[in-house]
Amino acid sequence: MAKKKSVRFDVGGVMLPQPFKIRRLGHFGLNVPDPAACLDFYCEGLGFRISDPLDIAEHHPKRDELRKLGDTHMYFLRHGTDHHSFVLCNGIIYNAAGRGGDTPPDVTVNQMTWQVSSLAEISRAIDWFNSKGVRISRAGRDMPGSNWHCYPYDPEGHRNEIYYGMEQIGWTGLSKPKAMHERGFRERPPLPQMPEYEEVKQSAAKGVDFNSGFRHPETMPAKYDVDGILLPRPFKIVRHGPIRLFCRDLKEMEDFYTGVMGFTRTEAIGWKGHRCAFLRCGTEHHSLALYPISLREKLGLSSHTTVMSFGVQVATYRQLRAAVDFLKGRGGKFVEIPSALTPGIDYSAYVLDPAGHAIQLYYYMEQIGWDGRPRLGRRRTPERVADWPKAVEPKSDTYTGEPYLGPWG
Ligand SMILES: [Fe+2]
Repeated sequence: MAKKKSVRFDVGGVMLPQPFKIRRLGHFGLNVPDPAACLDFYCEGLGFRISDPLDIAEHHPKRDELRKLGDTHMYFLRHGTDHHSFVLCNGIIYNAAGRGGDTPPDVTVNQMTWQVSSLAEISRAIDWFNSKGVRISRAGRDMPGSNWHCYPYDPEGHRNEIYYGMEQIGWTGLSKPKAMHERGFRERPPLPQMPEYEEVKQSAAKGVDFNSGFRHPETMPAKYDVDGILLPRPFKIVRHGPIRLFCRDLKEMEDFYTGVMGFTRTEAIGWKGHRCAFLRCGTEHHSLALYPISLREKLGLSSHTTVMSFGVQVATYRQLRAAVDFLKGRGGKFVEIPSALTPGIDYSAYVLDPAGHAIQLYYYMEQIGWDGRPRLGRRRTPERVADWPKAVEPKSDTYTGEPYLGPWG
């Protein structure tokens, strides 16, 4: 019998099994019950900055009802020059506004957003998801952030987003003025579109005040000497991810993320009889890790969320140790997760956000090269932070991978 020829797609002149290629995690979003407490944790504690607050009630037909339920803002946060790398949303408002749909109650992910290389890839991805029967909640171009996108859901109700063209925040720290939000799209845009340079030129001709965007109010004094720069905390987040999810049907989720989204499986491990899978989109050991949901209770993690953890990478090993001390000093609650469950990362610690999500602090991520193979013979690291050495020996890939661009503060 003739072997069925698999369909392939021309992505920039390279034939791929999907019509797009995810390059990296762009941003991650959580629905939380108390945005004010979470803003304190993520901004004052971890150093994210607000690039834009967005009132989701403003143009909503149930505006007055929503405002009675609490803070109706979504907060777009950033750690670098991308307009947002993290999004906080009031879960009560999100559900009341009807955006939650039939999402299971323990799905607190607002979005897991992945960068592709071009607007054409987004457009073709919409056809791809439709052909696979994947639910897409919407497509177009959202403001703030200016990114062109579509939102496909995974089989267990986590909303993914793929996007092209995130707004970049420069040295002024100002986001794009609201007057420039008119180039948003609520549907798939016809191609081609004008470049951002042209949009800016047109706004300038209309007399838009380029200094009218939002600028994060930094309130903490810059009193820590962090390798030569004074910062309000003794570390700097230089990269975000990986995302770890608990899954009800691990095989189905793994098939979706590899076969439909195009992630590569780096490895799968067995831990006390549980299969756990590690998927990547770039050279990092994993950008997304999948675990069976039966592990959630065994690890003592909150039953309110399918998020096992969200990773934030700090610049150095010294900063990792300092971050743990700093967050403990602010009353941060730490939990222990066995390091065997996170191959590719050596030293890490998990602090809970006020909503109970575990945030994984780390400094090193194993890098995967051309042969796609993970490292053999890894050494175990001490589980307890108190047992960590003051300094560590380098590995072949220490301080490699995606570098941070721009100044720390
Ligand atoms: Fe997004």
